[in-house]
Amino acid sequence: MDFDMGALIQVMRRAGRVALSVEELHPHTKGASDYVTDVDRAVDAFLIRELPRLVPGRMYTEETPIDPGDYPGNTWVVDPIDGTTNVMFGLNLSAISAALVTDGCVRAGAIYNPFSGELFHAQKGGGAFLNGQLIRVSDTRDLADALISFELGPCAKGQQAGYLARVTALHQASSGVRLLGSAALDLCYLAAGRLSACVFDAIHPWDYAAGRLILEEAGGVATDCEGKPLVMRGRVRSMMATNGHLQEAVLEIMRGFAWE
Ligand code: IPD
Ligand code: CA
Repeated sequence: MDFDMGALIQVMRRAGRVALSVEELHPHTKGASDYVTDVDRAVDAFLIRELPRLVPGRMYTEETPIDPGDYPGNTWVVDPIDGTTNVMFGLNLSAISAALVTDGCVRAGAIYNPFSGELFHAQKGGGAFLNGQLIRVSDTRDLADALISFELGPCAKGQQAGYLARVTALHQASSGVRLLGSAALDLCYLAAGRLSACVFDAIHPWDYAAGRLILEEAGGVATDCEGKPLVMRGRVRSMMATNGHLQEAVLEIMRGFAWE
């Protein structure tokens, strides 16, 4: 079935306008340091209505996480806002993420940061783009020259010491480490060559489905932190992604730690 990427891009830009139109956040706590706001809810409702109009299928979103099983047929995997905490604190590092999964394979993905106007998209086999321009991962081959991002989400509560040991090891070996607070944007920035590797403590399909496709289409690689392929079912305990050249070097550092 043909897929109209232009139509998905339009829906994402409209979703961005929905996000920017919300005046009061009304944040609620879902768990320790895990929040939902009226921005998340408004974008969720908008995409639940609009995406099946592009390609009919089930919806699997962070705010309505109905188990997609093995993703039979078409499933839209959506994070209405990745980087909710950043929205609450006025950091413009948050994005709307949507991926179309057909029979378990991510076919198309788009990630839009309405605060910066940057829209990343990819289709399987068609390359990755930022605002219509082709993007590629960095050519960095030496970890010492790499800027690396690390995510420390709410799932890391109580286990910070173990994670910070990994940050220390990455910091020691690289040009620097950043904790941006949006896994979707980490993957896009890696795809665009701004970062050369990312490590995530725990991550859900809605956080990475679109970003992983964009990254792979830009020449990058994503696995779990033992180097095994990612299985897009439920929460992944750890994930790492690189420009490909640095996969072994980052993996070697990660292998020095046991993941609880
Ligand atoms: C979070 C962000 C963060 C990651 C967390 C996620 P949310 O998503 O992606 O970077 O570390 O694990 O939960 O809650 O802002 O959509
Ligand atoms: Ca979210």
